[in-house]
Amino acid sequence: MILKNNSSTQKSINPKKKNMKPDKKKPLGEIQIQDMAELDWTNIGKPGLFHKGLRIDYQTGEFLGLFRFDANARSGIHRHVDIAISYILCGTVTDYVDTFRQGDIGVNPPGDTHDALSYEGALLVSRLEGLTIYPESEKELKAIHPGAYRESFGTIEETRNPDVAPIPLREQPLVNTGCHGVEYRLLYDYGSTDHDYRMTSLQFRAGAQLPSFVTTARLDIFVIAGDLNTDAGPAMANHFVTLKANSTATLTSNFGCHLLVWSEAPVQWLDPDFANKDPFGF
Ligand SMILES: [Fe+2]
Repeated sequence: MILKNNSSTQKSINPKKKNMKPDKKKPLGEIQIQDMAELDWTNIGKPGLFHKGLRIDYQTGEFLGLFRFDANARSGIHRHVDIAISYILCGTVTDYVDTFRQGDIGVNPPGDTHDALSYEGALLVSRLEGLTIYPESEKELKAIHPGAYRESFGTIEETRNPDVAPIPLREQPLVNTGCHGVEYRLLYDYGSTDHDYRMTSLQFRAGAQLPSFVTTARLDIFVIAGDLNTDAGPAMANHFVTLKANSTATLTSNFGCHLLVWSEAPVQWLDPDFANKDPFGF
């Protein structure tokens, strides 16, 4: 894991530009890079179900990381208290309404209740905002969702939130960010929740750059493919890059890359002449 405090990157800011002084009242940001191949899988007690978390909070249920279903692994019936969003890196996950395939986004809005099974195995990159409930009939709770607990709940809602339908990433419109060679897709706007977040994917062509910006809230990046250069060093495919609030970053790619991004608030550009729309979906 590479950790970088932003003090050195802030020194590189051009002081002649307005709005370019870091806010001294705020704590310095931090950029963390993690190669997920360096972390071990944790089996959650049921055959064929694993997670590998970059961020796991067993109190709140918040999770950022990877889920793995081996062939024929089944989650068991559960209800999402808060939203979970997954991107299917490979394989399929099937529940009572649909099958989520490689390249699909799967959204479980608050209240969504289902039992997920993978017939062929699957690998997911996921971010959960809250806890998950399993029924009391699960005598021994072995949940893939961190912090899950047991509680009596009724039958599954008759009408499922339409947001749960698979969202094929490649079918979402590509939008120009205004930065040459960088385009994005808005994948989900968290409209069914209390969170004003965005999930996007970004595609950098070879040599493209997003100019320097400062985060105002947490920004999570997963590199699906290619190479990404950050202020904390390079991140390749299967790496997470997480930026805390008040982190200064410039993102470039030597040979092109495809990113998944969860953003909790719009970023601020360091160059006031650069009046681009937020490239992370706001
Ligand atoms: Fe679920």
